[in-house]
Amino acid sequence: MCGIIGVTGTGPVAPRLIDSLKRLEYRGYDSAGVAAVVDGRVERRRAKGKIRELEAVLAAEPLEATVGIGHTRWATHGAPTTENAHPHKAGRVTLVHNGIIENFAELKAELAAHGRTFESQTDTEVVAHLLDAELATTNDPLVAFKRVLDRLTGAYALAVLIDGEDGLILGARRGSPLVVGWGEGEMYLGSDALAVGPFTTSISYLEEGDYVALDRSGARMFDVSGAAVERPVVQVSGSSAMVEKGEYRHFMLKEIHEQPDSVQRTLSEYLDFVNGTARPTAVDFAAIDRIQVVACGTAFYAAQIGRYAFERLAGLPCDVEIASEFRYRRPAVSKGTLAVAVSQSGETADTLASLTWCKAQGLQTAALVNVHSSSMAREAAVLWPTHAGPEIGVASTKAFTAQVAALLALAVSAGVQRGRIDAAQEAELIQALFESPRLIAEAMQMDEALREVANDLSKATDVLFLGRGPMFPLAMEGALKLKEISYIHAEGYAAGELKHGPIALIDEFTPTVALAPLDDVYEKTASNLQEVAARGGPVIMIAPADAPEPHGAGIRRVDAPACHPLVAPLVHAVAIQLLAYYTAVQKGTDVDQPRNLAKSVTVE
Ligand code: M6R
Repeated sequence: MCGIIGVTGTGPVAPRLIDSLKRLEYRGYDSAGVAAVVDGRVERRRAKGKIRELEAVLAAEPLEATVGIGHTRWATHGAPTTENAHPHKAGRVTLVHNGIIENFAELKAELAAHGRTFESQTDTEVVAHLLDAELATTNDPLVAFKRVLDRLTGAYALAVLIDGEDGLILGARRGSPLVVGWGEGEMYLGSDALAVGPFTTSISYLEEGDYVALDRSGARMFDVSGAAVERPVVQVSGSSAMVEKGEYRHFMLKEIHEQPDSVQRTLSEYLDFVNGTARPTAVDFAAIDRIQVVACGTAFYAAQIGRYAFERLAGLPCDVEIASEFRYRRPAVSKGTLAVAVSQSGETADTLASLTWCKAQGLQTAALVNVHSSSMAREAAVLWPTHAGPEIGVASTKAFTAQVAALLALAVSAGVQRGRIDAAQEAELIQALFESPRLIAEAMQMDEALREVANDLSKATDVLFLGRGPMFPLAMEGALKLKEISYIHAEGYAAGELKHGPIALIDEFTPTVALAPLDDVYEKTASNLQEVAARGGPVIMIAPADAPEPHGAGIRRVDAPACHPLVAPLVHAVAIQLLAYYTAVQKGTDVDQPRNLAKSVTVE
């Protein structure tokens, strides 16, 4: 969740740490801090709140140094205060941490018994004390570091500075990612490629349990057993290293507008548009009898949309479960099951743990991820990439539609391989997918109408989203988007479920947003909307202009592009995203970095 950067170089380090932290702020943003080596001693600057608060602290008290570490925090242990902000310092040791040290309470008790006192409520501070204590017994920082790592239970990515060790940065990872960046006479450590993006595109991904010593001339890497290792240096694309907002006011709006491209790129991975066929995939869908998808949040809703397609087009049973439930449920699994993790980051702790568990059961595994070098990508036997590019807005948009697009394309493949769809149907479905980027671009024309609807939604305290079929998970995604960035309570329901309870919520102050493409259940959805309107509830129906008018006073229409039902979730996704975006803008919330959230949830 938290972002980490370390630089051991020759130029002024503080502005470089700040530059990197700004790119990492999407990972966590309740406090931030930097530490740097000044005349052989490590000094810290920390601030509660966003990076601009830290910049103000640095302006008042500059750090003149060339070696330093930085951190932007998403609080797990201890409130978001300056005292709990990283870096934490104990004696000669100053460090930053991403993850959770699960045995911190017993370690803290042990350290306290030896007279150590603590200034924060964090789990992280015990690591600094442990290392400081070990450094009193050996002159070799790496030996001391390894002894400490062996005592930690839980997840961590660490970056460490030590008084008197100018130029040295220690790093380690277990459960949380960490990369080494290679420069000319400089070295970098970061929580991901974006962290080191301002400085280099040459990166080594540390593996589980690795630790590393960096100085200006290079890196010495060790595996979990302490054996020296080398991790390959790979070139990451400029786009994963550098991201800018460009002409847009928010990353979220930019990312919404990138969707025609990101969906097109993703579909090209799975479909051959020239020949109108699905590309072969590494999975033989004819040889499996079930799919089990695990995912969290928006990825969970994308997977649910995929489920409709796998079952309808390929006759392939598909279960989709929230990973935090799946991993502890001890589910009964059968050998013919393909386990699929769906994730933007590829690092979500619960999804990764579920994937690892499925692998241990001997299941075939695939990871549908947007970060192709992520832990899930490396854990799964098969990598199914999405090509959304780096997504910075905490509210997922283009990663979601890329996931949906990939799953729809894979469902077509599965249908072909399992003999459920013939060549003509394959061509029709691929044509529909082929047209979807253009239709997504056309869907942006709903902008003005949705902006007006958003003005009204911003005054509501509760909003319902309704849909049937694949529009049901999209309705839940619409509710999640609205909740997460506008802080308005919203729920997504299957339209047919309305009269089993939720209809009691309907009154003149509770708007209902209906996602109603012209599909085989359109009439059913329309009649549900009449029921809402008849009870005085304001209804906003997002449907193609040629969809028959539902009878009911107060039904307000937003015209969506007409499209093949297969791609309706992609087209209607634009509507729910823009609706949430403009509602949040109207309310004046922090769209890209909503309160209490972080982009990658790498802790349970
Ligand atoms: O990186 P992942 O796709 O695994 O993340 C899963 C969720 O944390 C994520 O989709 C979250 O729900 C988003 N903030 C929703 O916009």
